[in-house]
Amino acid sequence: MQKEIVNLLKKEKKVSEETLNEIHNIDLNDFSNIVKEIGKSDTEYIKASEISKDLNTEYVGQNLYVYKEVSSTNTLAKFLSLNDVENGTVIISEKQTGAKGRSGKQWESPLGGVWLSIILHPNVEHSKLPLITLATGVAVAKTLEEIGVENTEIKWPNDIMINGKKVCGILTEAVAKFNTIESVIVGVGIDANLDVDQFPEELQEGTTTLKEELNREGNENLLIKIFLEEFEKISEQFNNEGYEDILKEWRKRSYSIGKIVEVREPFNTYYDAYVLGIGKEGALVVEKIDGTLVKVISGECIIKN
Ligand code: BTN
Repeated sequence: MQKEIVNLLKKEKKVSEETLNEIHNIDLNDFSNIVKEIGKSDTEYIKASEISKDLNTEYVGQNLYVYKEVSSTNTLAKFLSLNDVENGTVIISEKQTGAKGRSGKQWESPLGGVWLSIILHPNVEHSKLPLITLATGVAVAKTLEEIGVENTEIKWPNDIMINGKKVCGILTEAVAKFNTIESVIVGVGIDANLDVDQFPEELQEGTTTLKEELNREGNENLLIKIFLEEFEKISEQFNNEGYEDILKEWRKRSYSIGKIVEVREPFNTYYDAYVLGIGKEGALVVEKIDGTLVKVISGECIIKN
């Protein structure tokens, strides 16, 4: 974590070599204040002032920190979450050099995408985390619909798809102390103003971008603003009304239900199954070839038909 912060400070050249050499003696709180200070300036493409203009939220995005390059907005968000940040604080970076995807995979994050993390201090148990991811997926889908994307679907648990190709991924991580969740970091990566050939060859077939789907470059700041508003609406619904309606919205856009998949659960348990739906705790409910019903709580589902 400290390496990440030191790299950030070095890049921004806001701290002298001397201070960097003395970094081990700096109090964590001071450290986090320096990081916050750096994040207060706009970058070339991400403008906090544009995002905040008419931002219709109570708390999501009311504190925004913007960076040119970090290794991972989720990592930085986790660090800041330990040092007194408001619920709904958002960390955005133009680029990420070591971004994290699900299942320990890397996440490609070149300039032109939307890479952000939201820090929440919700009062939830671990078992509710999958539902936060599903709710975020619905918020992203609604955002894309608002900017004119048709045929947005959600592949369980968290891939946003357009015409069968992935355009966005979500990584939810918890910061816990003695088994109590102190913060939840919701990381969202949207392939916005990018061309598919900017991605490694092996990813190109299954990837799309908003630029390719809409045949134009979009305004990233507006996209972020709309998403933050949708995210807060759905968080409030989650907190006040429960998740049944959110799950309905998810099911309406499901890319997975009704398909044959290869389920890859942790610890290498692989099997083929038919997807029946999602249960009320956010698990994927599948029927194995031998007729047994299984609730898949975590893992990957590779679509076979
Ligand atoms: C996936 O594998 O589908 C999840 C990808 C999540 C990527 C986002 S980009 C912003 C945030 N920072 C990270 O390091 N990861 C998430």
